[in-house]
Amino acid sequence: MKAFEYNMERQIIGKSRKKLWFIVSASFLFWFLFLYFYSEFTVGKKPSTLLGNDFANSENDRESNSAHVPESSYELVTQLPDMGIQMNEETGDVRNDVGKTGPNSNRTRNLESAKNIFHAEDDGFESVDQMVVSVKELDPDDQTHPRDNEGQFVNELVSGSSENREESENEVAPKVDGDKRNPDLPKQSSTENQRGFDESDIDSCLGRYIYVQDLPRRFNEDLLKNCRSLSNWTDMCEFTSNLGLGPHLPNFVKVYSKTGWFGTNQFLLEVIFHNRMKQYGCLTKDPSMASAIFVPYYAGLDVARYLWGSNITMRDSGPLQLVKWLRGKPEWKKMWGRDHFLVAGRITWDFRRLTDGEFDWGSKLMLLPESKNMTILTIESSPWHNNDFAIPYPTYFHPSRDIEVFQWQNRMRRQKRRFLFSFAGAPRPNLQDSIRNEIIEQCRASRRKCKLLECVKGSNKCYKPVFVMKMFQSSVFCLQPPGDSYTRRSAFDSILAGCIPVFFHPGSAYVQYIWHLPKDHNKYSVLIPDFDIKKKNVSIERILHKFPRQKIRAMREEVIRLIPKLIYANPSSRLQNLDDAFDIAIKGVIERVSTIEREMREGKNSSFDYLEELTWKYNLLGTVEGEHEWDRFFARS
Ligand SMILES: *[C@@H]1O[C@H](CO)[C@@H](O)[C@H](O)[C@H]1NC(C)=O
Ligand SMILES: *[C@@H]1O[C@H](CO)[C@@H](O)[C@H](O)[C@H]1NC(C)=O
Ligand SMILES: *[C@@H]1O[C@H](CO)[C@@H](O)[C@H](O)[C@H]1NC(C)=O
Ligand SMILES: *[C@@H]1O[C@H](CO)[C@@H](O)[C@H](O)[C@H]1NC(C)=O
Ligand SMILES: *[C@@H]1O[C@H](CO)[C@@H](O)[C@H](O)[C@H]1NC(C)=O
Ligand SMILES: *[C@@H]1O[C@H](CO)[C@@H](O)[C@H](O)[C@H]1NC(C)=O
Repeated sequence: MKAFEYNMERQIIGKSRKKLWFIVSASFLFWFLFLYFYSEFTVGKKPSTLLGNDFANSENDRESNSAHVPESSYELVTQLPDMGIQMNEETGDVRNDVGKTGPNSNRTRNLESAKNIFHAEDDGFESVDQMVVSVKELDPDDQTHPRDNEGQFVNELVSGSSENREESENEVAPKVDGDKRNPDLPKQSSTENQRGFDESDIDSCLGRYIYVQDLPRRFNEDLLKNCRSLSNWTDMCEFTSNLGLGPHLPNFVKVYSKTGWFGTNQFLLEVIFHNRMKQYGCLTKDPSMASAIFVPYYAGLDVARYLWGSNITMRDSGPLQLVKWLRGKPEWKKMWGRDHFLVAGRITWDFRRLTDGEFDWGSKLMLLPESKNMTILTIESSPWHNNDFAIPYPTYFHPSRDIEVFQWQNRMRRQKRRFLFSFAGAPRPNLQDSIRNEIIEQCRASRRKCKLLECVKGSNKCYKPVFVMKMFQSSVFCLQPPGDSYTRRSAFDSILAGCIPVFFHPGSAYVQYIWHLPKDHNKYSVLIPDFDIKKKNVSIERILHKFPRQKIRAMREEVIRLIPKLIYANPSSRLQNLDDAFDIAIKGVIERVSTIEREMREGKNSSFDYLEELTWKYNLLGTVEGEHEWDRFFARS
C-alpha cells in the first residue's frame, strides 16, 4: 500500500517528499482509526461479553500454567500390559455408605479401594495450542484475520461466536409447550451475523449475568495442586487433567468417536463445572449486576479427603471456613446468600451428616444455616430437603463442537442392539432391601435376552468404560436399580449410548434431575417399582417384551434427543448452538433465584412455604397437596 500510494503521489502531485510523507502518514492514521473504530463497533459493542471472555481467557491461562502432569502414567502402563482403562466406579454406582432412605454411616466403601489404573493416549496436557485449534474450527473459512497473531485471533473468534450464540438465543421463539423446566428448543445459528451488528444483543445478558466469587485458592485450586492427597486409592491427578475431564480415551475398538471422549471420574463435576463457567457468555465482574453468584468451592474433593478415617472436625472445617468467608463479603448481605450457588460433586448424603457422632458419615455442609439459604447443585439431591438440586453426573463424552454431538446421535440411532436388556453392576449383599440380587438372577434367567456385566472381585471388565459403553450400545433397555443410594452415573452412560433406562425407584431420576429430564418419564424410560421386584411376582423380561416396536423406537428417539442436555461440553471451548447440562443448570439456578428474589421483594415466601420433607413432591408437581402414587416411595417411617 505504501509503495502504491508513493507512486500515485509522485505522478499526480509531484510535490516534495515532506508533504508526501505527511499524506502517507495521514492515510495510515485514517486507516488505523477506521479499523480501530470498526473493531470497537463490532467486537466491543457488548462490554459484558468482552469482559466475560477476558475473564475466561485469563482464567484459562492460569489453568494451563497449573496443568497437572501425570508423572506416573508411564509406570502405570508398564504395570498393566493389557492397556485397558479402569475406573474405580463399578460402572457408575456411587459406592456410598448410604441406605435407601438416608445415610447409614458405617459400611466400608470397599469399591473405592479398587485400584484403578490408566493408560492414556495423551499425557493430559491442556495447552493453549489445543484451544486455538478448536476455536479455529468454529470458522474454518474465515480468511480475514491475520494468522500471525493467534492470541488475538482466538479472542476475536471467541467473541464473534459468542455474539452469534447470544443472538441466536434471542431469535428463539417463546416456548410453546409451557414446560418451563425443560427449555429444549434448539438455538438457531445465524452465520451471517457472525460479526454481530444486531442492536438487540446489547442486553442479551440482562437477567443472566453471573458473578464468580473470588474465593481464596485453598477452596479450589490448592486442592487440585495437592491432587495426591485427594484419595488414597485413586490417582486423582490423572482425573484432574484436561480441566477435570481426565485423560483422553483412545478409540481402539471403535466404541467411542475419535474426539471428545475422556476417562472422566464421576466426582470431578465441581472442576468441570467451574471450568465450564469460565466459558459462560454472561460473566460479570460487577456483583451488583449479577443475577446469581457462583461459589467455586470444590466441596466434594474437600470432604473426600476426610470421609475415611478422619474425625468430623476435619470434615467440617472446609465448609465452616467457607461460609464464614462468604458471610463476610458484601455480596452476602444483598439476599442473605439466596442468590449464591455452588456445586458439590458427590451425593447429598456425603454433606448431610445426621449427628455429630464421631463415626457418622459425611460433613454437615448442606445443614449449615448459610447453606440453607444457598442453592447447592449435586449429582444426587435429597428428596426431603429444598436447598439441593440434582444435575447430571458427568459421562465420558465431552464434545467441543455441535457436529460431534449430532454425529454421535446419528450413530446411536443406527446402532444394532442385540440384547433386549442389560445390567452392569454388583450385588449388594449387605443391603437388606437391595433388589440387585433379584435383578441379577432375572438377567441370568433371560439368557439370550439379557446381557450381564457383573462386577465381582477378580473381573475388572466392569471397571472399564469401554466394556460398559459397548454393552449399553448393544442393548435396547438398560436396568438402573438403586445401589447404595438412589442414583447412579450408569443411567447417564446408558442414555448416552441410546439405551432406554429402566428405573425401579422415582428417586433414581424423576424427582432428581427436574431441570434436565422431561416431565413425562414414560416418554424416555420405564419404571418397574422395586416393591414388585421384591415380591418376586414380576418378570422384567416379560414387561420389556410387551413394548411394541413402534413405542420402543419413539422412546429411543427421545433418549437420543436428550443426549446434548445431559453431557458437559469440553470446557476448553464451547458448543455453538446446543445447550449442554451446564447451560440448563444455569437456567435452573437463575430461575430459582429470580423467583426467590421476587417473593422476598413482595414479602412472600411461598417457595419455602411447605413441609420441607415434601420437597420431592413440590419439585415434581409444584404443589404438595393431594395424594400421589409415589408417596409410598418417599414415606419416611
Ligand atoms: C461404627 O463403627 C464403630 C467402630 O467400628 C462402632 O463403634 C460404631 O458402633 C459403629 N456405628 C454404627 C452405627 O454401626
Ligand atoms: C489416606 O490415609 C491416611 C493414613 O491412613 C489418612 O490419614 C488419610 O486421611 C487418607 N486419605 C484419604 C483421602 O482417605
Ligand atoms: C481431629 O483430627 C485432627 C487431625 O488428625 C486433630 O488435630 C484433632 O485434634 C482431632 N479432633 C478431635 C476432636 O479429635
Ligand atoms: C438466610 O436468609 C434469611 C432471609 O431469608 C435471613 O434472615 C438469614 O439471616 C439468612 N441466614 C444467614 C446465615 O445469612
Ligand atoms: C404383584 O403383586 C402385587 C400385590 O401382591 C400386585 O398388586 C401386582 O399387580 C402384582 N404384579 C404382577 C405383575 O403380577
Ligand atoms: C413463611 O412465612 C410464614 C408466614 O409468613 C412463616 O410461618 C413460615 O415459617 C415461613 N417459612 C419459611 C421457611 O421462612
